[in-house]
Amino acid sequence: MDLYEAMNARRSVRSYTDEPVSRDALQRIVQAGIEAPTGCNMQLRQFIIVDDADVIGQLAKLGVTKGAPAAVVILMDPQGTPYGEFWVQDASATMENMLLAAVAEGLGACWIEGQVTPKEPQLRKILGVPEGLRVWSIMAVGTPTAQPGRPPKPSFDEIVHFDRFGG
Ligand SMILES: Cc1cc2nc3c(=O)[nH]c(=O)nc-3n(C[C@H](O)[C@H](O)[C@H](O)COP(=O)(O)O)c2cc1C
Repeated sequence: MDLYEAMNARRSVRSYTDEPVSRDALQRIVQAGIEAPTGCNMQLRQFIIVDDADVIGQLAKLGVTKGAPAAVVILMDPQGTPYGEFWVQDASATMENMLLAAVAEGLGACWIEGQVTPKEPQLRKILGVPEGLRVWSIMAVGTPTAQPGRPPKPSFDEIVHFDRFGG
């Protein structure tokens, strides 16, 4: 799939069928995440692919899967670099690569962060996350029940400036 096509087709999907996601597709999606840039190439990330019905059920009960049959959990070692704290940006770039890869796989996905931080203690327990790693966000992934519409976004002219603000 053309990259621009994938970027335009990507939507946050919040309703999924029960159809399982293949391990091959999940691995390709996570590999796309691994290819994302990281500040100072620090590589502070770990991933947990969740596709076991029992584990995904436990995550669903916490309200962090949107009913998807699979999820990828991004864990971060919140270390600084010699030039500052980049781990949140690292994780964000990783997530966007994975969201686009999900589209290329013919799947839908959703970046879930808002509900994750308050439930981090429960998530750590369910997923067996070791000390020193943060549960940073979760990508729900599966087959969408329908393609969501494009939410309102500003037009190019409203928010883009050439050379100087207002230009
Ligand atoms: C940092 C971040 C956190 C997000 N957290 C959630 C979330 O917890 N739950 C959710 O349903 N969507 C979440 N989203 C998805 C946004 O709501 C979504 O990207 C936005 O509404 C625009 O829709 P679109 O992705 O279809 O373009 C998050 C997106 C970002 C970038």
